[in-house]
Amino acid sequence: MGDEWQEAYDYAVQVARKAGAEIRKAGESEIRVMTKSSTVDLVTKTDERVEKIIIGALKEKFGEGTHHFIGEESMAKGEPCILTNDPTWIIDPVDGTTNFVHGFPFVAVSIAFAVNKELEFGVIYSCLEDKMYKARKGMGAFCDEEQIYVSDVKDIKKSIIISEHGTDRSREKVSKIFSTMQKILCIPVHGLRGSGTAATNMCLVATGAVEAFFEIGIHCWDIAAGAVIVKEAGGLLMDVDGKPFDLMSRRMLSANNDIIAQRIIKEIEIFHVPRDDERQEI
Ligand code: IPD
Ligand code: CA
Repeated sequence: MGDEWQEAYDYAVQVARKAGAEIRKAGESEIRVMTKSSTVDLVTKTDERVEKIIIGALKEKFGEGTHHFIGEESMAKGEPCILTNDPTWIIDPVDGTTNFVHGFPFVAVSIAFAVNKELEFGVIYSCLEDKMYKARKGMGAFCDEEQIYVSDVKDIKKSIIISEHGTDRSREKVSKIFSTMQKILCIPVHGLRGSGTAATNMCLVATGAVEAFFEIGIHCWDIAAGAVIVKEAGGLLMDVDGKPFDLMSRRMLSANNDIIAQRIIKEIEIFHVPRDDERQEI
């Protein structure tokens, strides 16, 4: 691997920090809220502006044309969401937009980088907490400068599990989500949690604060950076049915170990969501 992408990694950390500062500043003034796929799928001018700042900075540094970009807000405007072998940045400018709008204190900037469809590094800046999570393939995961590791709990009854509700409010999906949560809660586990940002949830798995996080309906930009961070912290990723993790599938389970993962999989009620690389609209 060598140090080929070290400069890009270091630069991504700088860009994420700058983006986070913009989000903090924007949170101090009035936030104008718009909606995307449904009335609960929120977006603000800050999401769009911060994505432009991030992509602009990366294009300036690495040149337009050679590097590709998958950004949440560009995809929402109809750009195709296809991962090729080219160097590709996968960006969520404001993960936790609903939190941002409500002043709920977990909002993250998520930047990942893939080459030949393999994730090389991930950077997540939890900007209201001012915590910088980062990981490069084969080099460990860090929160600020401290190396982080997943928890060593193997007994599901001693675990905390995270899941989220997403933005689809169809009765069928909501009842499957709650039925899954009820079954997991009644195993029983110590607790169920959710920070409102998939990126932050994955960092919580990586630091060992929780044992697992799963969700059906997330997007590649919510989880790409977190995937590297969880893996480098010693955790694992898979599909919610136990098959290999597929970044574009919109289904993801991250866990500290396989024992916890398999126990959760037994309870997950799966429902269909279109893949990121199949969808025309968000
Ligand atoms: C959302 C958050 C949330 C998850 C949703 C995502 P956004 O991203 O990550 O935790 O449950 O599936 O869409 O809209 O805040 O960028
Ligand atoms: Ca997001």
